[in-house]
Amino acid sequence: MNQDVWTAVDMYITDLLVPSDPALEAALQASGAAGLPSIQVSPVQGKLLHLLARACGARQVLEIGTLGGYSTLWLARALPAGGRVITLEADPKRAEVSRSNFALAGLSGVIELRLGTALETLPKLASEGRGPFDLIFIDANKSSMPEYFDWALKLSHAGSIIIADNVVRNGAVLDAASGDADIQGVRRFNERLASEKRVTATEIQTVGSKGYDGFAFVLVIADR
Ligand code: SAH
Ligand code: DHB
Ligand code: MG
Repeated sequence: MNQDVWTAVDMYITDLLVPSDPALEAALQASGAAGLPSIQVSPVQGKLLHLLARACGARQVLEIGTLGGYSTLWLARALPAGGRVITLEADPKRAEVSRSNFALAGLSGVIELRLGTALETLPKLASEGRGPFDLIFIDANKSSMPEYFDWALKLSHAGSIIIADNVVRNGAVLDAASGDADIQGVRRFNERLASEKRVTATEIQTVGSKGYDGFAFVLVIADR
């Protein structure tokens, strides 16, 4: 088994189950044209986020890490009328590309992008009384994942779902002695998950067009 097979199977599944959508395709096109790295979730993963948001009836969604807004669009499309996505992005160029993608998709009124480092924006959201969020997608810099998880908990309610991307990283997560701050961030996040009594969680390894990685799925079972 190798990357070529994973990619081919992802294309097979995508062709069958993820009908091409002009706004999502346009967002990928514009992101590529603007030189953004192609590190967004894959189409099948975007649809997974979308159907999880629908399954839990999410109305208020928080995303940490926007890039070109591809996952944001999948999440926004899952919301009922009156629903809202707040998405956090530190890079001004990426924020601009995303805002343009949201406008082209006709979703500017549903998605609120906050430009700034997430660890500065999250306390602001809390002090503004934003949230609680029904679904939170953590997908920014991995070195701060434990802190993002703490904020996600503060901004959630019993029944909220927290999803985190990139928890396996080609198996590098196993390396306890890793000198990579991202790997150490993922490992501390996993240890927080294991010891936190207010949540129950699992992680699923994934292969596909984005290589070998994984998602954490967390259910908040008790209010702060
Ligand atoms: N969720 C997107 C991919 C996000 S990639 C998708 O699947 O479509 C991670 C993003 O997090 C990058 O755009 C990066 O600029 C942003 N990021 C990195 N560090 C950040 C920080 N401290 N605060 C906010 N965003 C950050
Ligand atoms: C990177 C970030 C991601 O969120 C991802 O899914 C893949 C790679 C990165 O920063 O390299
Ligand atoms: Mg990711």
